[in-house]
Amino acid sequence: MCGIVAYVGHREACPVVIKGLKRLEYRGYDSAGVALMNGHGLKVYKKKGKVVALERELEGKETHSTIGMGHTRWATHGEPNDVNAHPHYSFHRKLAIIHNGIIENYAAIKQALLKKGHTFTSETDTEVLGQFIEDIWENNGGTLEDAVRLALQEVVGAYAIVVMSETDSTQLIAARKGSPLVIGVGEENEFFLASDATPIVEYTKDVIYLNDYEIAVIKEGDLKIVNLDNTTTTPYVHKIEMELAAIEKGGYDHFMLKEIFEQPRSIADSMRGRVQADAGILQLGGLRDYMDKLARSERIVIIGCGTSWHAGLVAEYIFEELARIPVEVEYASEFRYRNPIIKEGDIVIAISQSGETADTLAAIELAKSKGATIFGVCNVVGSSIARATDAGAYTHAGPEIGVASTKAFTAQVTVLTIMALEAAQRKGTISESLFRQLLVELESIPAKVEMVLQAADKIKEIAYIFTYARNFIYLGRGLNFPVALEGALKLKEISYIHAEGYPAAEMKHGPIALIDEDMPVVVIATKDSSYEKVVSNIQEVKARKGRVIAITTEGDTDLPGMVDFTIEIPKVHSMLMPLISAIPLQLLAYYIAVMRGRNVDQPRNLAKSVTVE
Ligand code: G6P
Repeated sequence: MCGIVAYVGHREACPVVIKGLKRLEYRGYDSAGVALMNGHGLKVYKKKGKVVALERELEGKETHSTIGMGHTRWATHGEPNDVNAHPHYSFHRKLAIIHNGIIENYAAIKQALLKKGHTFTSETDTEVLGQFIEDIWENNGGTLEDAVRLALQEVVGAYAIVVMSETDSTQLIAARKGSPLVIGVGEENEFFLASDATPIVEYTKDVIYLNDYEIAVIKEGDLKIVNLDNTTTTPYVHKIEMELAAIEKGGYDHFMLKEIFEQPRSIADSMRGRVQADAGILQLGGLRDYMDKLARSERIVIIGCGTSWHAGLVAEYIFEELARIPVEVEYASEFRYRNPIIKEGDIVIAISQSGETADTLAAIELAKSKGATIFGVCNVVGSSIARATDAGAYTHAGPEIGVASTKAFTAQVTVLTIMALEAAQRKGTISESLFRQLLVELESIPAKVEMVLQAADKIKEIAYIFTYARNFIYLGRGLNFPVALEGALKLKEISYIHAEGYPAAEMKHGPIALIDEDMPVVVIATKDSSYEKVVSNIQEVKARKGRVIAITTEGDTDLPGMVDFTIEIPKVHSMLMPLISAIPLQLLAYYIAVMRGRNVDQPRNLAKSVTVE
């Protein structure tokens, strides 16, 4: 949510910043802007729309500068337009600021500044913060660094900010609380700042993750990090493993399609070093010291948002079935505001692709304050959630750029399945033979996903037929129920078609009223213990002339004659079915969205990393 990038060093800053903004565009794409020091002083250029609109705006302008910062916005305060775009000048234009997050007490600060005669050009909280910093700088007699620190001591809310001043073309000041900020340490005393490592990776692998309440001061090629109380801290330089190819499209039309097709590899990566079926070994290194605690726990609470919440629902079935531990799955946004009951021995598992979701982070802090042990299942290494949890397991799906989550979901489900299996083995609630069978089947998943991907052309043809449908219903039972929810979410997110997921048997309690010849119903009807019941649900839809697209197990000869379209997927143990059954639904949503001409990777109003409430 909002992307920040900045550079200071020996290179031309503008191309570095613009390229970085394009890499971060998945975080927000309402507007984009840059600030440069180009011989005309501190100059801000900004434009409503995507980074390409900003590029057009910059054509013919003087952009020579070795310092610069840029921002892609996901609007919170004020509509997406040129004026509300970042960077924002301060009142006397001595500084410019970019910001990701929300300043909750901005109205009170604004009132105080208005009384002093300030005026504001935008509706943003960010402009208020910029003016506040400048006001302190002008009136307290200290340095800009002092002013930033003093201002932030007064601020309530979340922020990652970068400040540039007209008085020093070697200085960038950045700070964070609740919104991510990564510092790249490049060659010849150059520095990069970004919301995540993707704009940095092609220049350097050495990064520092700024912590909450820290201020980074880059000046004359040196970096200093201080806390809000002005004590200096020693930064730890991490080596990132991300490769440039992982954040490029690699010949695919969209990141989403690339990421769907990457799943055989990403699922294998999420199991690598963790599953050894031939030796009957399973281990999650990051949870080694906590496994007994998990196996002994009396209750697991899983928290997450969006797709991650759906992965949690899948995990609920698996943990309860295999490890016999009661599980509750909660939206993080609800959990954090309802005084949840946490008992000693409870384990909270926080699931998050980005590791930055504000609601999930806040829910973790609440659970922590109540004494829970928190595990994280995150994709982004070094992310805030990964660092806020007691222990965890990375999903290792690789960077996910498409806003609609695909490979992150299957990687989350894989890791949670491994976790449940390990707990079940420790607890003795799973037979050795089932344990071994599931390990072997887990290892076969990447090849089976590959087989599903081969049906892409058929799925494309079905998508063509339903391109202009106005509504969709998705049905599934058991572990396929959360998959139905996820399938409906994918379609909604990227095609803007209204879609609802339901447990198949719930249909008769309401949604059946919607069924007629214009209603496509996607039914996950794989061969498992509820197959017969799901077939009855399909009959109910057909009796009302609904059009059924069924996801079936290969070799099923009954359903093709009963439904309008079938998509076959390979046979797999029902505990692992979501890893396979989710794939055709991702493809169906993708192709429908493409045929409707939607911007699949950057759907309207959404953002990949939701760092505000
Ligand atoms: C946003 C994204 C979703 C994602 C959700 C949770 O809404 O658009 O794709 O599932 O946030 O994000 P997280 O990073 O915590 O998994």
